[in-house]
Amino acid sequence: MTTPWPPSFLVAVRHARRIAVITGAGISAESGIPTFRDAQTGLWTRYRPEDLATSAAFVRDPRLVWDWYEWRRGMVAAAQPNAGHRALVDLQQRASACTVITQNVDGLHQQAGTRNVVELHGNIRRSKCFTEGRIVTDWARTDERPPRCPHCGSPLRPDVVWFGESLPAAALAAADEAARSCDVLLSIGTSGVVYPAAGLALTALAAGAIVAEVNPAQTPLSDSATYSFRGAAGELLPELLAAVWGPTKAQMRA
Ligand code: OAD
Repeated sequence: MTTPWPPSFLVAVRHARRIAVITGAGISAESGIPTFRDAQTGLWTRYRPEDLATSAAFVRDPRLVWDWYEWRRGMVAAAQPNAGHRALVDLQQRASACTVITQNVDGLHQQAGTRNVVELHGNIRRSKCFTEGRIVTDWARTDERPPRCPHCGSPLRPDVVWFGESLPAAALAAADEAARSCDVLLSIGTSGVVYPAAGLALTALAAGAIVAEVNPAQTPLSDSATYSFRGAAGELLPELLAAVWGPTKAQMRA
C-alpha cells in the first residue's frame, strides 16, 4: 500500500531550493543496528549511559567502555545501508541542494553514497586520543584494551560525543546553517529528545520552512511539524521519492 502524500508536500519537495535532512537511529534500525530508546531493544533501555557513555565512566573503567564500543563497532561493520539510506542518496542527486545531517555514528549514510554528511555525534569507526583529542589510525595492534595513543601513550577512545560533552563546533554550525536556510526539512527516525540536534527542526520551522517527520511513533516534534508521516524510513522514503520524481531505475527493474 502506498502512502497518500499530500500534494502540497510533494510540490514543496520538488521545488525546494534547499532541503535539510536530520536523521537518527531509526533510519539504521532496518540495517539491524539497535536504536537507543525503543522498548526492549533500545541501547539505553538495556544499558545505563552513565556507565558507558561519559568520560567519567571511561576514567573509571576504560576497558569496559572500550569493549562495549567494540561490540557496537562489530554490529556496524556487519551492517549494510538499507532502502532508507539509499533513498537519501537519490534525494541528494535529484534535489537542487540537500544537506544530510545525522546523529548516527555508524557511517551508513556515507557507505550508501551520501556526500558531505554532517556528523553531529561523531563516528564510532574512528578513535581518538583521550587526552589530546587527535584522531588516531596507526596504533599498535596489541592485546591492550583500550589501545594506547602512539603519540602520547594515553588510552584511545571512540570518536563519539559522550553525555556532558560539546558537539563538534564545525558540524553544529553547518547543521544550524542548513536548518536556517532550507525550504524543507525532513526529520527521520529520531525521538527528538536530545539537544541541540532536536532543536534543528524547530529552527527550520521558526525560519519558515516546511518540516516533515518520518517515524513509526509519535515524538515531541509530531504536533508542531507541518507533516508527520507514520512508518518505517526504508518503506516511506523510497515511496516519497517516487511520488515526487517518479520511480528510480532500480524501482522500475523491481
Ligand atoms: P532514539 O532511539 O532516541 O530514537 C529512535 C527513533 O527512531 C524513535 O522515535 C523510533 O520510533 C524511530 N524508529 C524506529 N524504527 C524506525 C524506522 N524503521 N524508521 C524510522 N524511524 C524509526 O534515537 P535518536 O533519536 O537517534 O547520542 O537518539 C538521539 C541520540 O541519543 C543519539 O545520537 C545518541 C543517543 O544518546 C549520542 O550517542 C551522543
